[in-house]
Amino acid sequence: MVQNPIIAIDGFASTGKSTVARALSQHFRLPFIDSGAFYRGITLFAIENGFVKNNKVDQGGLEPKLTELDFKYDSSSSHLHLNGQNISEKIRQPEIAKHVSSISSIDFVRDFVLKELRALGTDGLVMDGRDIGTVVFPHADYKFFFIAKPEVRAQRRYQELKEKGVVTSYQEVLNNLIHRDKTDSGREVAPLVKAEDAIEIDTSELNAQEVLSSAVQIIESK
Ligand code: DC
Repeated sequence: MVQNPIIAIDGFASTGKSTVARALSQHFRLPFIDSGAFYRGITLFAIENGFVKNNKVDQGGLEPKLTELDFKYDSSSSHLHLNGQNISEKIRQPEIAKHVSSISSIDFVRDFVLKELRALGTDGLVMDGRDIGTVVFPHADYKFFFIAKPEVRAQRRYQELKEKGVVTSYQEVLNNLIHRDKTDSGREVAPLVKAEDAIEIDTSELNAQEVLSSAVQIIESK
């Protein structure tokens, strides 16, 4: 196995990427970075500052404001701070999920997050997202691409939100996932695609432990 590897886990929303990425990071004692949190953080900022109105993003207003954003990511707790405030809970709200795909399709937002993420990748790490193996770290040592049936993913996300006390319905979660799949895969900049050299794992019928074991095996054998 490569020393201090960069491990990239990409794939569709709610396929278990973060759970497995976190477990891999503990197994190999590497930092874990949830790249989606940065897009969610910018979405929160845009909403709180009035740059999202009637489901439209005021790009002209948002762009110059990005220089005011100071993100700090604590890889041991996976907490994200924005301008000194811990936003880890707030960014999981359905209101953020609703707008994050359109915010993350904007080229200047992607440029901003790309720089933040690359700055974290000087040593080994595990990072999950949509474009980690294709754009952020195209030379990652190990690349995985997770897929799963939309109904299974929606059920998992719904359960997760319910346990956190977030008010939503299964149908709302499913609709949001289908909408995000479409926007994430169809956008012009850094769309969600499998890197040629990524290993695909279908997590529909597997639990987190099973996915973790197969990823560990693949990593240790190379
Ligand atoms: O992984 P997540 O559901 O928290 O990601 C939220 C959104 O951010 C997702 O709909 C697409 C976007 N995203 C992205 O475009 N590129 C990444 N590397 C990570 C997330």
